[in-house]
Amino acid sequence: MSATPYASDPTIDPALYLPRMARILEVTPLTSREKYFKVELPEPLGHRPGQFVMLSLLGVGEAPISISCGPRTDTILEMVIRNAGSLTQVLHGLKPGQQVGIRGPFGSGFDLEDFYGKQVLCVVGGLGLVPMRSLIQPILAQLDRFAALTIISGCRTPAEELYREEMRAWERLGQETGKVRVIRLVDRTQNLPWDGQVGLVTAPLPSLPIDPDNTVVALCGPPVMYKFVLLELAARGLPHSRIFVDLERRMKCGVGKCGHCQINHVYCCQEGPVFRFDQIAHLPEALQ
Ligand SMILES: Cc1cc2nc3c(=O)[nH]c(=O)nc-3n(C[C@H](O)[C@H](O)[C@H](O)COP(=O)(O)OP(=O)(O)OC[C@H]3O[C@@H](n4cnc5c(N)ncnc54)[C@H](O)[C@@H]3O)c2cc1C
Ligand code: FES
Repeated sequence: MSATPYASDPTIDPALYLPRMARILEVTPLTSREKYFKVELPEPLGHRPGQFVMLSLLGVGEAPISISCGPRTDTILEMVIRNAGSLTQVLHGLKPGQQVGIRGPFGSGFDLEDFYGKQVLCVVGGLGLVPMRSLIQPILAQLDRFAALTIISGCRTPAEELYREEMRAWERLGQETGKVRVIRLVDRTQNLPWDGQVGLVTAPLPSLPIDPDNTVVALCGPPVMYKFVLLELAARGLPHSRIFVDLERRMKCGVGKCGHCQINHVYCCQEGPVFRFDQIAHLPEALQ
């Protein structure tokens, strides 16, 4: 008898299904609901921006979680996890030194080639900053390859802002280089200290200096945000072929087998979660 059920079936790649054990190095609360996790894998993950992993705890469960760091050559993986239910609640109780299972990286992700030489506009809402950071980091690391980077990041209240200090560092880099602009917004201040703007992420778009012929947009946030951002971008003359959207769907297997993530014939876990908008604009379900 074979050591694993896969060994006798050459069509099944065990790497797709077997988690690698990763050691937690750091757990830091970012807000009351979200914690930053830095883990160390046995070997480099080898991911692209915008990809995700399936994160598991033996006997508890498994969930898709976005990779929050840019591509790296070392064995570090960064994630931000919201305490949303049974698995994520247990994850929030873990400490450095404990282990989690990681499958992946999975999904399409962003291709940096699409952004080279362009004015890059990243529009993020809430938890969308988590995967978007995996695109922003490599852009900032090689800024001379891009015309400019504008980040519009919104959340509901100041207390919900993620990566606060890092966004301030991006703002400072913008002041030094003149190539990065960061616009931080909240829906409402709730009488908390706030040094950004108040409004929805769509508010800055009409007056933003956008060259529609040389701009590429990446969107990551709740579906309701996409609808309104896409309307504003259409008004500014941005073609669908230069807008990339990161879609979240319920996922179970992450590898195109269970159908949980399907939008019509499209498997979000494999062809997405990042899509060029002209390739899914005809699917009404995509932005729901
Ligand atoms: C591609 C992808 C990337 C994601 N990246 C992140 C990330 O970086 N950080 C993060 O915190 N979360 C992320 N999520 C959402 C995360 O997978 C869910 O929050 C998680 O599965 C909840 O698991 P649970 O067992 O704790 O919750 P459950 O007990 O299963 O459910 C608790 C609540 O969460 C809701 N929920 C369950 N699954 C999802 C889901 N897939 N999407 C939205 N809501 C869900 C349920 O409806 C319920 O209200 C991502 C999801 C996808 C598909
Ligand atoms: S999550 Fe199973 S097919 Fe996509």
